Amino acid sequence: MKLIFIGPPGSGKGTQAKRLAGRLGIPHISTGDRLREAVTEGTDLGRKAAPIMASGGLVPDELMVGIIRDRLAKPDAKKGFILDGFPRTLMQAEKLERLVGNGAGGLRVVQLLVPDDVIVKRIALRRSCPECGAIYHLETAPPRNDRVCDRDGKELVARPDDTEQAVRKRLEAFHRQTLPVATFYKVKSVLREVDGMGPVDDVFERIERSLS
Ligand code: AP5
Repeated sequence: MKLIFIGPPGSGKGTQAKRLAGRLGIPHISTGDRLREAVTEGTDLGRKAAPIMASGGLVPDELMVGIIRDRLAKPDAKKGFILDGFPRTLMQAEKLERLVGNGAGGLRVVQLLVPDDVIVKRIALRRSCPECGAIYHLETAPPRNDRVCDRDGKELVARPDDTEQAVRKRLEAFHRQTLPVATFYKVKSVLREVDGMGPVDDVFERIERSLS
């Protein structure tokens, strides 16, 4: 199963993709997580990406395509994968086709539909674990113990790009650069539009149904 999750920031891509990857036994490949690791490690990639991410912009296509090319070449991606956050531009979508084969190359694409006003509320109360990347929401998916990760006890943090100004820019980038990617896959009849509203379990069931 070669899957792509598309959706605006905070629509639940990471939450759902992690869960589905666990269920299917395939890797969850998040370009956002990869970039955040690079920032933490202080690599060249991280130094280039940090200011762009903090402002809510998109990291240049050539850097992103290189990350995906290397990741898909790893043995665990041979049996399938879930891409979360890639492709985000038409150029990335075209490059991905060349990596996975002609046409849509067996790809299936899930687009999570969530209105912008809900996004802003979700992101304001999101917290994540800096160690393992687990995602929480202080109201809808709180940790068991106050503000620490259920898995490793690390103190949860808000992401630096979750400021109101950066979120506005990320939404704008989604509408202008990523929605055309959804249309690109719709034309190829591989796009499944899924209502991303309501409890996480309900959204997960809808995703599974859309893929069966
Ligand atoms: P990335 O990390 O991909 O961020 P994003 O697309 O903005 O998405 P988010 O991670 O913010 O949200 P999500 O949809 O995963 O939602 P989540 O599950 O966390 O990218 C970050 C940055 O990296 C980009 O801005 C860009 O700069 C750069 N980048 C990455 N990829 C790139 C690329 N390909 N090209 C160029 N640049 C790139 O959920 C959000 C919150 O809502 C959580 O608190 C969660 O608990 C809660 N929640 C989830 N589902 C529900 C529900 N059903 N009901 C209520 N709450 C819910």
